[in-house]
Amino acid sequence: MNTVQETERDHLVSVVSLEEVKDQHQRWLENRRRLENIRFSRFSEDQLRQGKTSRLDYILPYFIFGLKASFMYRQGVRNARNIVIREHELYFDDLPPAFDGYQVVHLTDLHLDSLPGIEDVICEYLDILRFDVAVFTGDYRLHAHGEYNDNVLDPLYRIFRMAQAPDGVFVTLGNHDTHHIARHLTEMPVQILNNQHVQIERNSEKITLVGTDDPQCYLTNDAIHALKQAEGDFKIALVHSPELYQEASQADFQLYLCGHTHAGQVCLPNGSPIIHNVSQGKHLVKGLWNHNGMTGYTSPGCGVSGAPVRYFSRGEITRFTLRRKS
Ligand SMILES: [Fe+2]
Repeated sequence: MNTVQETERDHLVSVVSLEEVKDQHQRWLENRRRLENIRFSRFSEDQLRQGKTSRLDYILPYFIFGLKASFMYRQGVRNARNIVIREHELYFDDLPPAFDGYQVVHLTDLHLDSLPGIEDVICEYLDILRFDVAVFTGDYRLHAHGEYNDNVLDPLYRIFRMAQAPDGVFVTLGNHDTHHIARHLTEMPVQILNNQHVQIERNSEKITLVGTDDPQCYLTNDAIHALKQAEGDFKIALVHSPELYQEASQADFQLYLCGHTHAGQVCLPNGSPIIHNVSQGKHLVKGLWNHNGMTGYTSPGCGVSGAPVRYFSRGEITRFTLRRKS
């Protein structure tokens, strides 16, 4: 069996052949282009250039005007920049003993052009954190259409460099990420998981990471198939949004990491989101949840979209320490 890539890390093994990877990528690219064409064909060139691809985009200027008029805007921007590191220790019956204490750092929804300079804060945190593997679950920029600018790619490259971990950096795509980013990611020190999986091995024991394409706008059977077919006794799903939680649970995943919701971003004083974009239920909007024994975590993400503000909601980098129940 060929390996996907030669790596200096003898404990990282990929489980598909190089030819298979190329075929998968080509199939993904064709599907993605087709779905993006369908998604954006109803918008004019002007709308796409201005990033007006949802009803909210038209309401947004009035919302921002209202915030500025009420002097809440600056505080909201300060809140949005004030991200934290949140730590979770998660216990599992079936975690392979060699992975007891294994640390996964999870970042999502960077939306780097929404808050210029936020990469400095993220890099500072990544510099002081210890972790074994880093995972990113999509939405690297604000607009959802077209090519990528250097004001996204340069800070993204800095962040990926800073996120280097012994077992690597694995990334998936979100609904703001078009197929163009795949080309840029090949030049960055990360491995993209587009409906693919890798296994990390320690002392002959393995855990499996499965990354899917964004299920909200770009769901295909390949994503479901990737979840169903992945082998391993301990499996972690990396998906942009919570939407595939039932499929992952049915496929016996132990952990499901996602974002997309921004934990509401603009919330009431009790932390309840005013708008949440998860159709499957409010319990998936933020933080830890459980479904039929599978642990899930919906991160608020590091960045923001729409108005560059947060109220009663804190952005975060999340570090999970995996523990085996004794
Ligand atoms: Fe998203």
